[in-house]
Amino acid sequence: MRKPQNHILVIFGASGDLTKRKLIPALADLHKQELLPEKFSVLGLGRTKLSDDQFRENMKAGISEFSSKKEGAFDDFLKRLYYYSFNTKEGSEYKGFKERLLALDKETGSEGNFIFYLATPPSMYSLVPRFLADQGLNWSEHGFRRLIVEKPFGHDLESAKKLNRELLEYFREEQIYRIDHYLGKETVQNLLVTRFSNNIYEPLWNRNYIHHVEVTSTEDIGVEGRGGYYEESGALRDMVQNHLLLLTSLVAMEPPALINAESIRNEIVKVLQSLRPIPKDEVEKYVIRGQYTEAQMRGKQVRGYRKEKGVDPKSRVETFVAMKFFIDNWRWAGVPFYIRTGKMMPTRVTEIVIHYQPTPHHLFADDPAIIRQQNQLVIRIQPDEGLLLKFGMKVPGAGFRVQDVNMDFHYSELGDTYLPSAYERLLLDCMLGDPTLYSRGDAVEAAWKFIDPILQAWKEQPCIKVHGYPAGSWGPEESDDLIEGNMTWRYPCKNLSDGLYCEL
Ligand code: BG6
Repeated sequence: MRKPQNHILVIFGASGDLTKRKLIPALADLHKQELLPEKFSVLGLGRTKLSDDQFRENMKAGISEFSSKKEGAFDDFLKRLYYYSFNTKEGSEYKGFKERLLALDKETGSEGNFIFYLATPPSMYSLVPRFLADQGLNWSEHGFRRLIVEKPFGHDLESAKKLNRELLEYFREEQIYRIDHYLGKETVQNLLVTRFSNNIYEPLWNRNYIHHVEVTSTEDIGVEGRGGYYEESGALRDMVQNHLLLLTSLVAMEPPALINAESIRNEIVKVLQSLRPIPKDEVEKYVIRGQYTEAQMRGKQVRGYRKEKGVDPKSRVETFVAMKFFIDNWRWAGVPFYIRTGKMMPTRVTEIVIHYQPTPHHLFADDPAIIRQQNQLVIRIQPDEGLLLKFGMKVPGAGFRVQDVNMDFHYSELGDTYLPSAYERLLLDCMLGDPTLYSRGDAVEAAWKFIDPILQAWKEQPCIKVHGYPAGSWGPEESDDLIEGNMTWRYPCKNLSDGLYCEL
């Protein structure tokens, strides 16, 4: 495997949670697999005053708790971590930071290659690039300069456009890496392999054979102390605008000409640009929002969203969204896409369900009203990652009774195959200069363009209902009405093949 060039990874917001829980454990895992360059170091930045040793000690705790490869010592990795404290909001303080960075570069032999990671509150996303540029750190003839921007990328279409413009003033698009950690998930990338390396799926992957597509991503936890952030965000911004629309794009995209950043990202953006806009006055017909209320969950009393810390007791922020929409292009004309996400649901699951058209003539249905011969392909992103195909089989014995059976593959069957974490994969890709799994500016804007009218309708029309749903349930009953006919959502269990009933 190709190793990245020597470099320094500079983390803005290094005393925050993301650095400790995700970034440093992922880097420690890369170190264990010997995937980091020989001369690599991390320079953590933040206002909190810490010595290098104190920073290392804090990160050690993060690695012990959150890294995948905990066994063995990682002292030699910790020696690669450094810390510099300054006020990152103050342009005048960047001179001192630059001096520290260049000194470290000399000391460690990083050859003037820097990646800047913005793990800060979003208000810093436009400030830091400007201050870096003031110090001439945004470009160099000799080394690479890259910028990783965490989510949320904007709050709506206008702010996302503004942020793109601001970043592009100081960095070129090829230098900007916008993270959506869902693309770093192994099973999300496998969507491309499933579709484009097998001839059995692709010929059926269109409006002629697919009845509808369902994308579900639920969690069995609440806002976990992030009430303040969530009040500003809600499920539509937090999960739908980015992760769920990205999953939809990978399901719906055309085969790229090549597996490279340009080709794949071109196809993703084409899907996002083909989403049929939901008119503001029809939002209630296509989008159901909900909020969890107090209930018993697995024998424990769980408080409602409005009682969470940092949440307005009268909050109308949604913790659940289910929606129906169409992709107006040749392949998908008329095929409904249903997507849903929620907090405090019965289980944590992310999956895509392809519902095939029923057979044209129902030879074996006992009751013609029940269309049995409807195959499903379940692509399980997490947990119990894998693939499941549901099809009809003859029940042995007299007559022609048909029963649905499962054919399944679980990643866990691959024995000692290691599934890298999303951040591991994405950090390594950025180090290698490969932006394929990062979002391009135009894709982020196209996703916001689709979401914006929904946000506006909710803001302008308070009569649009926020449905309460008891914590531990599958969300408001009204979300079932989105799906026409006698069909419902799949109510998945934690285990891929266990049908209807769920762990409660
Ligand atoms: C984040 C959201 O982007 O994704 C969180 O901000 C959510 O609210 C998380 O919990 C879910 O990610 P994962 O990888 O656990 O499915």
